[in-house]
Amino acid sequence: MTTKLILRALAGETLPTPPIWMMRQAGRYLPEYRATRAKAGDFLSLCYNSDLAAEVTLQPIRRYGFDAAILFADILLLPQALGADLWFEGGEGPRLSTITTMAGVRALKPADAIHDHLAPIYQTVRILTSELPRETTLIGFAGAPWTVASYMIAGRGTKDQGPAHALKSADRATFTALIDRITQGTIEYLSMQVQAGAEVIKLFDSWAGSLKGQDFTDFAVKPVACIIATLKARHPGLPIIAFPREAGDGYIGFAKATGADCVALDNSITPEWAADQVQPSGCVQGNLDPAHMVTGGQGLTDATRRVVQAFRGGPHIFNLGHGITPEANPDNVARMIEAVRG
Ligand code: CP3
Repeated sequence: MTTKLILRALAGETLPTPPIWMMRQAGRYLPEYRATRAKAGDFLSLCYNSDLAAEVTLQPIRRYGFDAAILFADILLLPQALGADLWFEGGEGPRLSTITTMAGVRALKPADAIHDHLAPIYQTVRILTSELPRETTLIGFAGAPWTVASYMIAGRGTKDQGPAHALKSADRATFTALIDRITQGTIEYLSMQVQAGAEVIKLFDSWAGSLKGQDFTDFAVKPVACIIATLKARHPGLPIIAFPREAGDGYIGFAKATGADCVALDNSITPEWAADQVQPSGCVQGNLDPAHMVTGGQGLTDATRRVVQAFRGGPHIFNLGHGITPEANPDNVARMIEAVRG
């Protein structure tokens, strides 16, 4: 029987104190992260330097004793492995070469040709497997196909995923071919992370909230269900967390529709609503507003306790509703953990 708290929650156990980790826990709010990134040169060089990527993954575990470590990498490394150009504009975020035609999709590499490019990521996982404390769970991850496609089509982050929605209406065949290619690549990528030692997988669908109605079913549910079914067939018992961010009512029934063991919740919904509507079908993760990591104080303690209280009747992994931001104060993270565990 496993004693790792995250694995117990994912198996459906209601624990007296929820296990805890934090999206973007290795990141710019930490001085030790900024120092290691400077040593690597830039963000992408850090992702592909296995020793330094393992080092930044371990930093928040050493500082705070989180129950899980998440592999340090990025959802946009897969498009790069599939053949897209990728770079980061200082302070502005990611830029990619765009794909808007069937010829563009066909020019991508096949799903099984990504592994040479991604070998350093698998090596980071192997290093972490031997260096993490024995009670800490290692989470691997990828972007969900819709979110990854939205970056590959627009060539950058967009507020409303306009270019991806436009391609979906104008050229459905190209759009679905791209979704399928990403889905297949994601399965191979995550399978290798699991073989290298990842114990849990998380799928980030950061832009699921802009898919409505049948589009939500076709592009937020179906590709994720396909990835989960294939991974679970290859790796029996593998726990999977899905994060259809800002799905709203789409959270209801999402675990059952996709086969996910846990649904991660953003902070646009209240924990009381989610405890009532989502948690009865399984483990949930979330959902403290990351703004509290900047503002701190009694407001942070109260909001943290409210999340713990709302979810205490069922399986729950404490987390933020989205990634911690660079302006966050590291002392507030300690205060949040104290409010959860203390
Ligand atoms: O959570 C973790 O600590 C693990 C590592 C991780 C990163 N990105 C590191 C990162 C994970 C899980 C991601 C996921 C990711 N990447 C998502 C999905 C989650 C979400 O935030 O919605 C998305 C959409 C991306 C794409 C991406 N990467 C963007 C839009 C940006 C720029 C925005 C920003 O925060 O600067 C990145 C860069 C990035 N990925 C950073 C980190 C630590 C900051 C880069 C830096 O250090 O300069």
